[in-house]
This record gives sequence, structure tokens and C-alpha cells, in this order.
Amino acid sequence: MEPLHSLVYVSAAVDSFSDDALQELLTRARRKNAQLDVTGLLLYADGNFMQCLEGPQATVGRLFEEICRDPRHHRVITLVDEPVAQREFGDWAMAYRRVDLPQWLRIAAASAPDRAGSNQPSAVREILIDFWRTCSR
Ligand SMILES: Cc1cc2nc3c(=O)[nH]c(=O)nc-3n(C[C@H](O)[C@H](O)[C@H](O)COP(=O)(O)O)c2cc1C
Repeated sequence: MEPLHSLVYVSAAVDSFSDDALQELLTRARRKNAQLDVTGLLLYADGNFMQCLEGPQATVGRLFEEICRDPRHHRVITLVDEPVAQREFGDWAMAYRRVDLPQWLRIAAASAPDRAGSNQPSAVREILIDFWRTCSR
């Protein structure tokens, strides 16, 4: 079996997304992720995305390349790109939350590359996992 991989990035929407536009993006993404055996989490706050993708290494790499080319967002910055032992969002073809700006700032500040450091990319994953556990209770 191909090794499991996890990738987390942040990006900025080119134009801010309406609820309808986000729903459409999610519906397509969930359908495709289910086919690809990819799971994860997408957060959206006021024009900012943070996404975690997890799945077979090569598949995640190819999907991320495609996502990077998507003209609806730009300024993509990878925060985590590493093998993992298990999925954290295994129940979700793509879990989704719209978050408010204070929440976003907390998550983004805690996940900033200079804080997480190259030796601790999994800290970013832990922040997302904690956030998801708290907000889905
Ligand atoms: C912030 C963001 C996150 C996305 N996440 C996913 C995703 O998880 N899975 C996916 O298939 N497409 C995702 N997309 C859409 C892809 O960039 C691309 O449009 C899609 O894979 C093309 O699907 P298609 O092969 O059905 O045309 C995302 C796009 C954006 C802007």
C-alpha cells in the first residue's frame, strides 16, 4: 500500500467566496476526494483558506498541484508536507468550517512557519485537529 501523506497549506481567495460558491467547490471536491481516497479539512475565513489533505502520497501530490493551479486562489504557502501514520480526518472527504476572523488569527498565528519551525510541522496538524475536535463537539 502506498504510504499515507499529509499536506497543509494556506492561501488567499482572489475574489472573496460567496456561500454558494464555497458549497459548489466543496461538493465537487468531496466527490473527487472520495474517488481518490483523499480526506481532510478546509477552513475559510474572510478570503483566507487553510486546507489539510491526507491520502496516498502520490495522489495527494497530484491533487495539490491541481489545487495550486486553481485560479480562484493564490499565494499558496505549504505549512506541512510529511508522511503520517494515520488519518486525522478519515471520516471526511473534506470537512469544512467557515471560521470568524479572531478564530482564524489564532489558528494562523499558531501555525505560522516561523512558530512551527521546520522541525515541528506536525504542530500545525495538531492545531487543526484540536480546532476540529473543539468546534465539532
Ligand atoms: C481552496 C481550494 C481547495 C480545493 N480543494 C479541493 C479538494 O480537496 N479536492 C478537489 O478535488 N478539488 C479541490 N479544489 C478544486 C481544484 O482546484 C480543481 O478545481 C478540481 O480538482 C477540479 O476538479 P474536476 O477534475 O472535477 O474538474 C480546491 C480549490 C480551491 C480553490
